[in-house]
Amino acid sequence: IDHYRTTTFPVAIHAFASISSTNDYAKQFGSSQDFTIPQVFVADTQTQGHGRLGRHFYSPAKGGIYLSILIPLQNRRTIHSGLITTGTAVCVVRTLQQFFPDEDFRVKWVNDILVHDKKCGGILTETISSLEDGLHENVVVGIGLNIDSTDFPDQIAHKAGAIVTNTAIDKNRIAASLIDNFFYMYQTYTSGNFLQEYAKLSETLGKRVQIVMGNRTITGLADRFTGDGALVVKQDSGEPITVSSGEVTKVYL
Ligand code: BTN
Repeated sequence: IDHYRTTTFPVAIHAFASISSTNDYAKQFGSSQDFTIPQVFVADTQTQGHGRLGRHFYSPAKGGIYLSILIPLQNRRTIHSGLITTGTAVCVVRTLQQFFPDEDFRVKWVNDILVHDKKCGGILTETISSLEDGLHENVVVGIGLNIDSTDFPDQIAHKAGAIVTNTAIDKNRIAASLIDNFFYMYQTYTSGNFLQEYAKLSETLGKRVQIVMGNRTITGLADRFTGDGALVVKQDSGEPITVSSGEVTKVYL
């Protein structure tokens, strides 16, 4: 374990060459150990990387970044999942813009990072109830990025984009910046002060969307975001409906 001081907090970093899933490992760690500072798990490659709804997240060693941030939530604090996920999306884009200033990154609500209209990254936020007291939950924020697609097999390449091909990238520097940006955002995230930036990056806003929520599908115009990161859709019937990220199983633009 390395200790690393972000611009705002000290954090512990656990680095792995290969792991099943940094989110799974972080959840296991969070439910079995005592810790007071945030723990970051980062891997060069994952064998069982996954996204929302158990979908596979392609995690090759070449050109990808896979990390999970485990945050202790003491004293009955709770996490605002909608805000932490939208805030993290903004941090991911801020980081990518730093390293790849010529690219146009977009965010598809809620958690997909797009480049050239294909997904190059995703965020998976999971909460776990902690140890013995049951009073608080811990939260794991997982971030996966596919940066170099040189070795993508065809079936991946048609839906997952990557930012560059055949380019040497410094994964450690990108990961460090991502962690810094995350904790900077985390200090004030409950204020939602990044939501304007999120809206500007949004690929979803102003478009016609179809949102699947379990066995219900709604169709309409993606009109605006609420102060807690939920999406207001003006349905074809004229009736607005507010959809929070947790309810969504799929979004079609
Ligand atoms: C999604 O696309 O729905 C979210 C993808 C999240 C992938 C990251 S990679 C690091 C962490 N470990 C996982 O197994 N998933 C997340």
